[in-house]
Amino acid sequence: MRVGLLTGGGDCPGLNAVIRAIVQRIANEGGTCVGILEGWRGLVRDMTVELDVAQTEGIVGKGGTILGASRTNPYKNPDSDLAALQANFKKLGLDGVVAIGGDDTLGVAYRLYKDFHMPMVGVPKTIDNDLMVTDFSFGFDTAINIVTEAVDRLRTTTESHRRIMVVETMGRNSGWIACFSGIAVAADYILVPEVPIDMPHMTDVLKRRRAAGKNYGIVIVSEGAEFPERGTITIDDKLDTFGHPRLGGIGMIVADRIERLTGFETRSVTLGHLQRGGPPSAADRVLATRLGLAASHLVIQRRFGTMVALSASRIIETTLGEGVAATKTLDLTYYDEAAAFFK
Ligand code: F6P
Repeated sequence: MRVGLLTGGGDCPGLNAVIRAIVQRIANEGGTCVGILEGWRGLVRDMTVELDVAQTEGIVGKGGTILGASRTNPYKNPDSDLAALQANFKKLGLDGVVAIGGDDTLGVAYRLYKDFHMPMVGVPKTIDNDLMVTDFSFGFDTAINIVTEAVDRLRTTTESHRRIMVVETMGRNSGWIACFSGIAVAADYILVPEVPIDMPHMTDVLKRRRAAGKNYGIVIVSEGAEFPERGTITIDDKLDTFGHPRLGGIGMIVADRIERLTGFETRSVTLGHLQRGGPPSAADRVLATRLGLAASHLVIQRRFGTMVALSASRIIETTLGEGVAATKTLDLTYYDEAAAFFK
């Protein structure tokens, strides 16, 4: 058995742990693995590397992806790219492909499975934790730990200067990272895309806290949070390679409004790609390894069009179709728990 692996979309800590697990499990069955470089781009352009156990043994704790990643969408130029992709797939003699990605990469895997019966298995990854079916995706735990550490550092300087610090997190159109890290750092207020920004309420909370003796404040804002009167804030008019707007800038706007409405000196920090960098947490290494082993099992069983997922601490099998059916927005139970502290 010969299995192709690719990592697409934004990278995240834990990708290498998945790769290691798949290479080991397939080798245990007497098969071989080939790494497809830079996501779908590698299959379109025939960029690959042979993978073996010795090479991948030590990568479990390495951030990023040894295969490289891209947001290439072969359906953008279907006439040229889809034909090349299929020809290269044939040439490589692959029995199956494990696509490790978020909704874009897995969406392409699903279409290739549906349109051309290509043998695809998906592994969900994203720091945003916005993929359906899986309770959590690897990368998320590492990201919220990075935000937590950053805010623990920002807290001391914020307090020294009696300021408000607005910390902008990633997460696209879901507030998982902002909400979880906000709870972890005891934020004074958390803004997520799922709940329209209520400036009067937020500034009232910040003023009440100051009056009660807390001489600084921390606000966590997700990059996709929106004011009721305007849409998502983007860095510029350009789209990323897949075709999505690039989010960013809400933190500065929120900080400016807080300063004007409260009179408290306010600063903002955008954590950006720091949240995706560096080694995965132990929890993400374990989750990624379990998902990689389970995905290999599906390939060995030739159960294609499937995706592995975490459900109630167990690794389960679902379909790619279900995995990419929608964006998993923040479960508002968590937001209500966070909001108990900023009523
Ligand atoms: O989807 C993961 C993510 O990190 C989002 O949180 C963020 O909006 C986006 O990727 C950034 O993408 P890029 O690496 O293309 O700037």
